[in-house]
Amino acid sequence: MKKIVKLDCYTLMEPDIVAILQLEQGEALTNSASIDEYLSRLDVRLNRWPIAEDGSTHSLLAQPSLDETQKESVLRSLDHYFESLGGYESRDLIVLNPETPNLDGLLAKFSRPHTHADDEVRYIVDGEGVFGFVCPDGSQMELTIQPEEYINVPAGTEHWFYLTSLRRIKAVRYFVDTTGWTPDYTDTVIRMQALAV
Ligand code: LAC
Ligand code: NI
Repeated sequence: MKKIVKLDCYTLMEPDIVAILQLEQGEALTNSASIDEYLSRLDVRLNRWPIAEDGSTHSLLAQPSLDETQKESVLRSLDHYFESLGGYESRDLIVLNPETPNLDGLLAKFSRPHTHADDEVRYIVDGEGVFGFVCPDGSQMELTIQPEEYINVPAGTEHWFYLTSLRRIKAVRYFVDTTGWTPDYTDTVIRMQALAV
């Protein structure tokens, strides 16, 4: 008899989860089931999407910056994920590092709590990023995500984003519609900063 392997979000994340969920109360969770439990309260999805060892993707991702041709090559090698999402119109690769002109100015747009009219869908392929959230009970938490982690933040979910002390990220962004992709700022005060790295 054929063995059925269940490939849901939980089992995909389980092998070697690298995300860290910092709760406002001081506890940091690294266990994927516990992280999933907290994120599910906001319908935020976190999946682990491996990057195949073959091909040139890993060496391109190790470079600090990429030209348009190199970006397109990375994107194409990961397009099976794009296709599996269904219903998404476009994708791009965002590359940020300390040499990026006006890095702080760019980051300032997202470090304040905001929402979007569409889901925010990101697949981290290099570096690190931190997503902050407000829980239904009003408490706050911050999720540090690393390469091979895919996140879907549903439309309307209050969040904020910043880089870790690495100050570097490469992420694929998936768009249903790129028009009007602007943050709608809320007036929530972030209480997490004291805990941030
Ligand atoms: C964004 C993230 C970084 O809005 O929150 O693109
Ligand atoms: Ni956002």
